[in-house]
Amino acid sequence: MNTALKEEEPQIRDALLAWYDRCRRSLPWRDDPSPYHVWISEIMLQQTRVEAVKGYYARFLERLPDIRSLAEADEDVCLKLWEGLGYYSRARNLQKAARQIMTEYGGNMPGSSAELIRLPGIGPYTAAAIASIAFGEKIPAIDGNLLRVFSRLTLYEQAIKTPAAAAAARSFFLEEMPDQRPGDFNQALMDLGAGLCTPGGAPSCEECPLRGRCRARAQDRAKDLPVMPAKKARKIEKRTILVIRDDDRILLRRRPAGGLLAGLYEFPNEKGWLSEEEAVRRAGDYGCQPLHIRALPAAKHIFTHREWHMHGYEIRIGSFPEVPEDPDRTGEDTSPAGECFIATIGDIEEKYALPGALAAYNPGALSVRG
Ligand code: ADE
Repeated sequence: MNTALKEEEPQIRDALLAWYDRCRRSLPWRDDPSPYHVWISEIMLQQTRVEAVKGYYARFLERLPDIRSLAEADEDVCLKLWEGLGYYSRARNLQKAARQIMTEYGGNMPGSSAELIRLPGIGPYTAAAIASIAFGEKIPAIDGNLLRVFSRLTLYEQAIKTPAAAAAARSFFLEEMPDQRPGDFNQALMDLGAGLCTPGGAPSCEECPLRGRCRARAQDRAKDLPVMPAKKARKIEKRTILVIRDDDRILLRRRPAGGLLAGLYEFPNEKGWLSEEEAVRRAGDYGCQPLHIRALPAAKHIFTHREWHMHGYEIRIGSFPEVPEDPDRTGEDTSPAGECFIATIGDIEEKYALPGALAAYNPGALSVRG
């Protein structure tokens, strides 16, 4: 560490907290940082941008305002509130953890990172974020933002996505962290990483409250850090989506309990791009007699490790075959239609969580009716 710099400049913590007091983002979960609020916001913020989370956060808390209501809610309610946020295991783990908190902690969120990390869906980052923000525990919450800030402040030139880098960042920030306001210290670093010390080639170093303490900036190297792993190419998967419907009902099915988009509802779909004739035949396999078919616009959805490149058809039918209207009754029927059930368009809007990947084929999005 450069001691000359240290004497001239205020401590990182003082400069950072003074900046945070002036420039912090106004975020809904900061208004009332109860453990439940912080927990829900932190889970939503994993993999999802702050701006996108705000609306979900408000809707979720309106319907499930506390740990008890989350624990007692139907899984479909929780998934529906999560619809569009992606990574649905996050929603399932929230409920599992809420139930555990009800039985093991009398409905009160445990107050230390060591206990929090034992709950489903809570890893080292989330445990530290909740413990520091809601309970004042002095523990750095190391996420991508903090790693980036760390790599630049200290000119850390080794690979950043490693346990060694996380450990180095944790000990660096722990030393800088004040006894008071550890949660604000973490959130100040998050805001700094999101707004000024941004990824890529154009961080706003001139506006940074830590510019005098940044070794990367001193060497004009900020844009080269952190050292990221090479990106792996995603697997491209062609799929065909079949929206088989009459005026107000659609054929739907539930995805398996494990794997991609587990337990969500979907329109029948399969690998490959079917021709119109093949799609009509497939509707027949589902026991439906098509009256009219039209191609829907192609759509693309990007997952972490794969892309769906989708073609779709809307297939209008006169009447539905004999399939259950209640997904719980699909039971032992193994015919192609047996895995499906009939849902009203209203129920799709209110009750059944469809993956964001299929949003383009949701009847609400299909403005032209065939
Ligand atoms: N990203 C994750 N948690 C956050 C928080 N509490 N404030 C701002 N950005 C965040």
